[in-house]
Amino acid sequence: MTIRAAITGWGSSLPVGRVTNADLESRLDTTDAWIVERTGIRERRVAAQGETTASLGAAAGNAAIKQAALSPSDIDLLIVTTATPEQPMPETSAFVHDELGLRCGAFDVGAVCAGFTYALITGAALVSTGAHDHVLIVGSETYSRIVDPSDRSTAILFGDGAGAVVLSRSSADGPDGGPGVIAWDMGCDGSGAALLEVPAGGSRLPTSAETLAAGKHWMRMDGQEVFRRAVRCVVDSGKATLENAGMGPEDVDLFVPHQANTRIIEAAANRLGIPLDKTFSNLERYGNTSAASIPIALTEAAEEGRLHDGDLVLLSGFGAGMTWATVLLRWGAP
Ligand code: UT7
Repeated sequence: MTIRAAITGWGSSLPVGRVTNADLESRLDTTDAWIVERTGIRERRVAAQGETTASLGAAAGNAAIKQAALSPSDIDLLIVTTATPEQPMPETSAFVHDELGLRCGAFDVGAVCAGFTYALITGAALVSTGAHDHVLIVGSETYSRIVDPSDRSTAILFGDGAGAVVLSRSSADGPDGGPGVIAWDMGCDGSGAALLEVPAGGSRLPTSAETLAAGKHWMRMDGQEVFRRAVRCVVDSGKATLENAGMGPEDVDLFVPHQANTRIIEAAANRLGIPLDKTFSNLERYGNTSAASIPIALTEAAEEGRLHDGDLVLLSGFGAGMTWATVLLRWGAP
């Protein structure tokens, strides 16, 4: 039997706190009209004090385990992906593991906004070897803790939240190959590392009074260049993934891209040849939640009845690094 990894559970956790464009207008040199026209975002969620990457991630993970009709003891691997970790050490997965009461191995996969698709590929590959039956993948972020509130080019974009999926062992033996991950593509161009970064707090530039005074612990971004590269890599990686599977854009039932900017999503969908009515977006309500955006979007798409058994779903992540990864899967339980 050829083993595939199918998504059998999904869930999300979003803080109740909201920051609308009107809130931002009142404290930054920006306007609701500019933000909506250039990004498509109208509001984003913000974690309250005490709400953290691990607590949001555990809540999303718990929802996904329940949706899969499993219990925590059924999970045999946890993979967490985040660019806003609970602490510098240990990995956020340790905290999520503890909160969920898991008894399996756990580790973090880091690829910033491409983290979810990177983690999904990692989990699917491990399920496909037969090593694990149920892998929980959690994408969780609290960007409000690393975004400079006075930087209008980033403060308008990012939001907090978490999403999770359970990947379960499935069989690829069937008329359409059965549900699960079919093909993927992943890549990185490390020469673009400085385009989107938190410069200090690591080995290269350890925390000091100077780094704090210079604001080097905030995230900074060259938005225009990230934008250009994002469209290019979503399109190239999407095409490569479809080609690997021997399929074309006309086969895709739902395209769920990383939610960064409506103009990126629309440009990429157009160039890929996927119509916008088959492209999912909830950007206007949550902004860019980085590694959490795709599992939050998948959860909403499932809840809205936009995913049916047998549907072909294309997931596309891209982010700092620069990193990108695309996954093609067939929706449905084994
Ligand atoms: O998750 C992956 C990581 N991130 C991304 O995917 C983000 C990719 N980049 C973007 O989404 C866009 O580049 C931004 C939304 C960040 C910016 O949009 P843009 O259309 O690239 O604007 P721009 O940077 O070219 O700026 C255009 C103008 C500038 O003024 P001048 O030089 O024309 O006078 C900016 O200073 O808009 C100004 N501007 C703003 N004005 C009002 C920049 N930010 C704002 C703002 N409100 N918030």
